[in-house]
Order: sequence, then C-alpha cells, then structure tokens
Amino acid sequence: MLEREAELQRVDALLDAASRRRGSVVVVEGAPGIGKSELLGAVRRHAEGRDFGVLGARGSEFEADMAFGVARQLLEPMLRAASRAERRRLLSGVARMGAQALGVESGEPPADPFAAIHGLYWLCANRAERGPLVLVVDDAQWVDDPSLAWLGYLGRRTRDLALLLVLGLRSGDPRLERDELERLLGDDGVDLIAPAPLSAVAVAQVVRAQLDANADEEFCAACSELTRGNPLFVRELLAAARAEGLPARGASVETLGRIAPPAVGPSVLARLSRMGPDLVALARAVAVLGSGTEFMVAAELAELDPAVAELTADRLAAAQIFAPARPLEFFHPLIAGAVLQDLAPGARRLAHRRAASLVDRAGSLSRVAAHLLACGPAGDPWVVRRLRDAAGEALDRGAPGVAAGYLRRALAEPPHPAERSPLLLALGTSEWRAGQPDAIAHLEQALDSAGEDPGTWFDASWLLALAFIVTDRAERAVAVFERLRAGVPDSDAGLALTLEASIALVGLGNERTAGVALRRAEALRDRLPAVTDPPLHLLIALANYAARTNRSSEAQELTERALAYKPYPPPRELAMAMMYVLTMVERYDALRRLSDDLIGAARRQGAIQELIVFSVLRSWASAECGELADAEADARWALEHATGLSRTQALSAMLRVLVERDALDQAEHLLDRDADTRGLHSGEVARFLGVRGRLRAAQGRQTEALADLLECGERNERLGFVMLGGGPWRVDAALVHAALGNATEARRLAEEQLELARAFALPRALGVSLRACGLVEGGARGLRLLADAVRTLERSTSPLELARALTDYGAALRRSGQRGAARAQLERGLDLAHHLGAGRIAGQARAELVAAGAKPRRDAVTGRDALTAGELRVARLAAEGLTNREVAQALFITTMTAKSHLSRIYRKLGITRRNQLAQALAGRLGDATEMPSATAPVIS
Ligand SMILES: Nc1ncnc2c1ncn2[C@@H]1O[C@H](COP(=O)(O)OP(=O)(O)OP(=O)(O)O)[C@@H](O)[C@H]1O
Ligand SMILES: [Mg+2]
Repeated sequence: MLEREAELQRVDALLDAASRRRGSVVVVEGAPGIGKSELLGAVRRHAEGRDFGVLGARGSEFEADMAFGVARQLLEPMLRAASRAERRRLLSGVARMGAQALGVESGEPPADPFAAIHGLYWLCANRAERGPLVLVVDDAQWVDDPSLAWLGYLGRRTRDLALLLVLGLRSGDPRLERDELERLLGDDGVDLIAPAPLSAVAVAQVVRAQLDANADEEFCAACSELTRGNPLFVRELLAAARAEGLPARGASVETLGRIAPPAVGPSVLARLSRMGPDLVALARAVAVLGSGTEFMVAAELAELDPAVAELTADRLAAAQIFAPARPLEFFHPLIAGAVLQDLAPGARRLAHRRAASLVDRAGSLSRVAAHLLACGPAGDPWVVRRLRDAAGEALDRGAPGVAAGYLRRALAEPPHPAERSPLLLALGTSEWRAGQPDAIAHLEQALDSAGEDPGTWFDASWLLALAFIVTDRAERAVAVFERLRAGVPDSDAGLALTLEASIALVGLGNERTAGVALRRAEALRDRLPAVTDPPLHLLIALANYAARTNRSSEAQELTERALAYKPYPPPRELAMAMMYVLTMVERYDALRRLSDDLIGAARRQGAIQELIVFSVLRSWASAECGELADAEADARWALEHATGLSRTQALSAMLRVLVERDALDQAEHLLDRDADTRGLHSGEVARFLGVRGRLRAAQGRQTEALADLLECGERNERLGFVMLGGGPWRVDAALVHAALGNATEARRLAEEQLELARAFALPRALGVSLRACGLVEGGARGLRLLADAVRTLERSTSPLELARALTDYGAALRRSGQRGAARAQLERGLDLAHHLGAGRIAGQARAELVAAGAKPRRDAVTGRDALTAGELRVARLAAEGLTNREVAQALFITTMTAKSHLSRIYRKLGITRRNQLAQALAGRLGDATEMPSATAPVIS
C-alpha cells in the first residue's frame, strides 16, 4: 500500500485516545476504487498490533434489507467465540435485547425498535469494558437501516468508551442520502479521512511491480494519466494490458488509451466474455447470490458440476475477477456490480427467484427474503409464506421497518384473497411500530377487509384508535369501534360491552366526540347493574364518566373495582385511561404505584413511547404528593423524548412544576419553543391551557391568564367535565378576576366552585375550593373559609396545596391584625413549602413573615433539595441498588455520565457511600444541620 502514511498516523492517534477511553468515529470516504478498503485493512492490522479487539463487517448492496445483517456480521463471531462466563458478562443487562436482535438469543420481542439498538450499544459497551475495541465497517453506504441506526447511536456515545468505530463509505452512492448517515457524518466529533489518488511516482511503482519491472517512464506516465491515480483503475488497466500482451513501452501508449475503459465495468465484462460460458455462468451466479456465497449453492445456480465449478472459480480468481478464497467472493465489489448489471432485468429477477429456493434449504430466512424482494411478482403462495415468516422474524428482532418492507412485497405478490387482510394488519402494525406514516391507511384497509370474527380485530382497532388519538382525530377513532360493534351480534354480550365501553372511552378524550360519548356512557351506566362480570374497559369508562360528572363516590367505587381487576397492570391503552381516573379520584398513592410498575415494565422492554406517557402521569402524581423534584425529573425526561401530542402532555407537566418552583423564566422559555395548540381538540389541550393560565397569573399577566383559564373552562365544558379536567380552573380564574378587580365575577365563580366541590367531597378538591372562596370573600367569613381549607387539606394527600392554604391563611390573619396567629400558620407554610422545594409558596410565606415582624432564615440549599432533576433521577435508581451501568441503561445515558452525576450527588448529599443514598434521599441523614424536616424550626 502506497502513500497512506499520514492517514495511518491520524488513525494511530485515535487508537491511542481510544485505549485511554476517549473513543471516537472515523469515516474513510472516497470514490470507488480509491483505496478505502485497503486502508481499512491497514487500520485493522495496526489495531491488532496494539492489542485491540478487532471486529469487522462489510455492507453489501444485496443485504441492505436484512435486518441487523451488519450488526450480526460484527458481533456474532465474538459471541460465538466467548466462553460461557464471558458470554454472560457480555449479555448482561439490556445487552440481551441486542443479542435478540442478532437472532442469537431468544426472548420476548422488544416492544420498541429502539430497544434493540439500545441493547446492541450496551453489548459493545460491555465488550469495550474488557479491553479496547475497534469496529471496522466497510461499505457502510450499504449497511441495513437497523444496523445503521445502531451505529449512529453508538457513534454518538463513543466518547467515554475504549472503542474506535471506523467506517468506509463510497461517495456518490444513492444510499448515502439516508438521514441517519447524514446525521452521523455531520457530527462534530467525527474524523473524516479522504484517501487521495496515487501520485505519478506511486503509479509507476505499481506498474513496475505488477506488470513489468522495466516499464518505461512514458508508459507509466500514461497509466497515471489515464487512471487519474485511482489504484483500482490502475490495476484494471494493467490486467487489460496483460491480457492484450502489450509491452510496457512508450510505443504502446496509443493502444493503451484505446483499451482503457472509462470505468472498471466494461473492461471486466469484455475480459469475462472472452473466457467462456462456464466462467460467465459462475460469475453471474455469485453476483446474484451476493458475497459469502456457499460454494454448492453457487454451483447449482450456475448449473455446473461441483468439480467443474471448483476449477472455474480458480480461473476466475487467476483473472482477478474472483478473490482467491472460499466461500466465493468477487475480487472487488465494483466487479460484482458490473457483472450483475450486465444481466437483463428479467433474467436477473428469475435468477433471484431460483436463488431464493436454493438458499431456503440453508435455512436463513432473511437471505431468502432478500432474494424475494429482488424477484418479480407471480402470485406464488410460497413466496407470500416465506416473506410473512421473515417479517415475523424481523419483528421479533426489533426491526419493524424491515418487516414492513417484506410485507409490502408479499402483498404485491399478490396473496390469496383470504390472506390479504391479516397481511395488511401485520403491515400496519409493523409500520406503526416503526413510526411510518402509512400505518393508519394499512390498518384501516385491514379492518375494511376483515372477515367474520371481530374479536380478532380488537387489538388492531385499538392500535388504529391510538394512532388517530395522537393525531387529534378522535372522531375517526370512535368510528373504528362503531363499525366493529356493528358487526357483533348482541348475543356476544361481553365483546359488545367491551366495544361500547371503548367507544365511550375514546370519545371522552376529545371535544369533538365527547358529547356523543357522554350519552353513550350514560346508557352504559344504566345497564351496569345488570352486568355480572363487567369488562375492565367498562369499569374504567364509567369511573371516568362518574368523576367527570362530579359523582365521586361512584367514581371511587368503580376505580376500586378496576384496580382489583386481573391481570395487573392493565394493557397500555387502558393503563393510561386508568391513570387519568386515579388522578380525578385523588388516589395519588395508587397512581404512583401503578406508574412505577408500568414504567418498570416499559423500561425493561425499552418501550420508549410508553415510557414517555407513563412518566408524564407519574409526574402529575408526584407533584400532587409534593414530590416536586421527582415530578420535575419525570417531566423533563418525557419532554426530552416526546413528540406530537405527548409533547403537549409533557409540557403541561413540566410547566406545572416550574411554576411551583418559581422558575418562571424557564417556563416561559419552554413555551417559546413549543408548538401552539389552537387547532387541536384533545383533552390534553384543556389541561395545557389550565397550566399556562397559572403561569400567566404567576407572571402577573392577568389578562392573558384569564383568557387561558376561561378557554380551559369552555373546553372542559365541551368535554363534559363539571369541575375537574384541566384542574379546577374556576379556582384560578376566580383569583385572577379578583386581581383584576372584578369582585362580582370572582365571587360568583368561587361560590360555584365551592358548591361543586362540596358535592364532590374529596379533600383536595374541596380544600382548594375553600381556599379560593376564602381569598375572594375576605373578612371574617374569608378567614373561616381559609381555616376550613387548611383543616380539609390536612386530611388530603396534597401537602403542596396544604402549604399554599397555610400561607394564604397566615397572610389573611396578618391582614386582620392577628400577628401571632399569622406567624404560626406562616411558619408551618414556609417550612412545608421549603421542604417540598415549592419555591413560589416559600417566597410568599417568607415575605408575609417579614411583614408580620419575623425574621425567616434563608436556608442554604443542600441535601436532597439541591439535586437537579437529572441527578435525582440517577440517585433514585442508584438508591434502589442499581449499578452505574444499570442506571445508565435505564436512563439512556452513558456510564460515564451516570458516574459523574453520582459523584456530584454524593457531594451535595454529604455522603461517601452508595448504601447511604436511600437514607439521604428519604431526608433522614444529617437532619438537624442540613435538611429541614417538616418539624425542624426554620425561623431563627
Ligand atoms: N495506497 C494504495 N497503494 C497501492 N494499491 C492500492 C492502494 N490503495 C488501494 N490499492 C489497490 O487498489 C484496489 C482498489 O482498492 P480498494 O478496494 O481499497 O478500493 P475502495 O476505495 O475500497 O473501492 P470501493 O469503493 O469499490 O470499495 C485494490 O486492488 C487495492 O489493492
Ligand atoms: Mg472498498
């Protein structure tokens, strides 16, 4: 290899860094034949010389649709060579999900394609823990999408691994234009190496080494010019000159110009055609079968006797068309491409169909499928069957996008009419999991052509409904179930009821459909007493309806029945509905337990979409229980990962926490960045407006606050919420009216709210309503109402609301001149607010105490309250006994990040050992000095 010293020096430096756990990504990019693969080979040798583990793979055009094909090439040999103990270490934690994607480990299919990627990343990270590692992927432009997504994910996380990722990329290939590749190349940390053409001196060296030691200057200069220093073209030109018997003299230059083709293809094909039909047949067979072809299969496809095929292969190798190796391989991918292109399209499709049958005997489904993708449709049931099986395998391995490709091809075959609808269903499901937009259309088509038994279509219907819900098209979600219900005979009472309850549940979540859904719910409510074994869907729908229409005891009773339902936890779509109900009936403890369980399961499966929704709901529960730091940690995580409507959800949760923490600028900043919700009709929007209204009020922008809160109210009304929904909006609206000087309207709303809350009779709702009424009312009655609010909230599980009421009560007492009593209430309020990290209430209480003549202490922020949301997230998991690596896996961060978080956490908590974490987080460590507990005196 000539003239690559500088490049290798750069690589050496990167290898050095990687061995010190400062890994990175190198991309070797250039034109076909410029010498990328040669350079990658040298990189491998250098790495081996430094005791790196070296894993290599190569993309191929033919295998570009095989899920995780490249990942398997890279990692399978390593796993196979590992001892049992070693293998256990490599596959520890979520790395097992990665092995599943490679098909070397069985298990429950991942719920989210991201799980496989995450798992494969950890498989490498685990390996790099054992010693420095180089991954060399040549022809990365042809890497299959799932492997590429993984390599990108890995590439962005090499910085604290002992790992160098080296990619070879052929420029100009259309498959370079994939977003994931562009993103990878665009990363700042990526080193780009572009091998230069060989100089005239180097070309002369090659000519003299390979053609004729006595080649003259003129001939060598002509070679350099004709090939522009491209080493592959030099080789090909020399092979052609040799075949022509051309002397390496200046006199041959003219002839040389004639035989030098513009590219490699024509010259190879010309040489090949002169070598006889057997050679052409075998070359074509190997071109169709792809690299790493099993010898016997190639011989059979070429219709050659094995012995003849052996010798034919040797002759092809001698002509530098094949590599001198078994399994059969072309000397260079460009040659393989030229031979394949030379086959007419029809002949190529037929060859792939035959190849599929031959390869099927060897048992690799994805290889069979790759051939089937390349052959023409023929209405062949075998083809449909194999593609369907391959799709099932791809799904199990966490590659739904690849599965969708197989299924689309199966549908084009076309299948027998009876098979169409299950195939469409599988296609829609795969596309949904892969986040592809055609999912909805295909699920709809599947349901359109669904046959007799609606029961089998129930799951698909929910999937479709969810797809409509997250895109704010609830009316279509409802229609899905309506139609399904129409096909169910009344005699099938269980299914009929489940479907009707689903219709109501889905409809209740959106303003456009709520009206009808409420009437349906009412009808179902009438029927409930006659139902012996009500399905969970029904219990949850009716609990939601009851809470919405202000009948709390009925809602509570139904919720208890739903909580007792087996299996627990309920399936995803119901879990969310159940969580909403739990908030409405103030069962925050049960809500946190349920969300913990659901989050645990979703985390184990790497189901990121579910994690987002459950985290948001847990954030609401934590905020309600006064665990603001926990609430912020969950909301922030969700906000980092969510899109669409779940982003609005996460944003609401986040804003809510930020207002309580008095981080109003941060909240405003988030609003600046986030989409507006005006055209939407989902119930999420009402909730969002309620929270934004609160923020505006806190900012002193009362007019805007009022507009948001009143709109929240209107939307709540359309959704059938009598009082709750986007929070008890009348409470905030009454206070804003009061601030704006609209005393009458303020009083009207507050009274209305109080009356509703008295009927609802749950302590939180009642307490906050009493407080609002007391504030608006003022005077002696106001004081009585505020005192009542405090007493009521003391019975609730909402310490945050209690702190607020205490502070307002204390302030009212001060205004009425009762300074001593005022201070007692304010001290309690401040103490509690401070402990919860509720900066806004604490600030108010402190100011009131000053006004009441006290000197409240400003506490240094230490202990648990000093932890950032990210640190708290890490601390909680570490306290549960997870290792750094497990924490990193669960939170989708690197081990190094987890480690550095932990050292800051120790410092802030004033601890030195991991086993002190749980205690410190519970606030029991160093109580008197560092962390004010609920009873410690805060006033100095
Ligand atoms: N620096 C070099 N000195 C001498 N010969 C070289 C050099 N680099 C490459 N070659 C020779 O040129 C030929 C093409 O090189 P290589 O296969 O590395 O190209 P490539 O860039 O990987 O092409 P492709 O884009 O088709 O993969 C090989 O036969 C190789 O041995
Ligand atoms: Mg190459």
